Amino acid sequence: MQYHRDRGKSGKHVVIGRWGGYHGSTLAGLAWGGNAGRRLPYSAALPHAEHIPPCFPYRCWLGRPCPPCDCSCADHLERVIGQVGAENVAAFVAEPVVGATLGAAVPPPGYFARIRENCDRHDVLFIADEVMTGFGRTGRAFALDHWAVAPDLIACAKGIAGGYAPLGAVLVKPEIVGEVRRRGKSFVIGHTSAGNPLSCATGAAVLRYVLDHELIANAAATGSYLGDRLEGLKTRHAMIGDVRGLGLLGGVELVRDRATKRPFPREWQVASRAGAATLERGLVSYPGTGTVDGALGDHLLYAPPLTITREQVDELVAILDESLGAVGESLPSA
Ligand SMILES: Cc1ncc(COP(=O)(O)O)c(C=O)c1O
Repeated sequence: MQYHRDRGKSGKHVVIGRWGGYHGSTLAGLAWGGNAGRRLPYSAALPHAEHIPPCFPYRCWLGRPCPPCDCSCADHLERVIGQVGAENVAAFVAEPVVGATLGAAVPPPGYFARIRENCDRHDVLFIADEVMTGFGRTGRAFALDHWAVAPDLIACAKGIAGGYAPLGAVLVKPEIVGEVRRRGKSFVIGHTSAGNPLSCATGAAVLRYVLDHELIANAAATGSYLGDRLEGLKTRHAMIGDVRGLGLLGGVELVRDRATKRPFPREWQVASRAGAATLERGLVSYPGTGTVDGALGDHLLYAPPLTITREQVDELVAILDESLGAVGESLPSA
């Protein structure tokens, strides 16, 4: 917004996000995100934001079969920009692979190129939220690298310091920084812990380790193995509706009926029961709900350390296998 204002386009203030996305629990993050359940308690205080449908191949909001996918949901961006008026739109924000709220939903190739074109046509900044996907998680430095798309800003955290210290960053295109600096200004976005030297040193050490040990290549290779092994569980558990993900970000959606993709009743708390079952057996899962519509739907997310080996993936899958068996047996039969 500051960038647009400095260029004399102060009307550009609306941010467009996607339903089903997650950008954190600040008021702006919740507003731009699109998980109905997480937004609800704060709905009265959320700033104005617009949303387009998610790109969610397993549960296409446009009701199209996928694959093949014609990425037409990306054109909703142009439609909403038209509705709001391009002169009012500052940015579009999206997770390249939707993590916490959709359980590693990966778009088909071509989706983000279409988003990029739509943003460029209307002078709208494209913010990639790579908080979960960045710094090697998906087998590339950043997830958008899979599709050779360059955003204008990248939000990142988590993997930037490997979890060893709290660290987050916003990476901004030099042209945008230059535009603000040219006027002798800096971004008015300071925080108490900004630039914390201990966190930054930890981040630098983690990055050096990741590069020295070729962990991004490991995320690609072992991630692909993880995906295959998770996929293999489908033959053993009818409750697995979909296995998806990219690199070392894997998602398993749990459904009551695989043929119709019908979710479990909310009160059965299947995701949290499955998460608890794996934890009891020594595996940390990230259970998520609201996968279908912000309320219904259950998934488990896996984001193991980039150092994980194939043997450890086998252990992960064996624990998940046993846990899903136990959860399946404990569910009402009706
Ligand atoms: C994609 C994404 N964006 C933003 C956030 C929020 O980050 P923080 O909790 O550091 O505000 C998260 C946290 O899980 C996330 O997964």
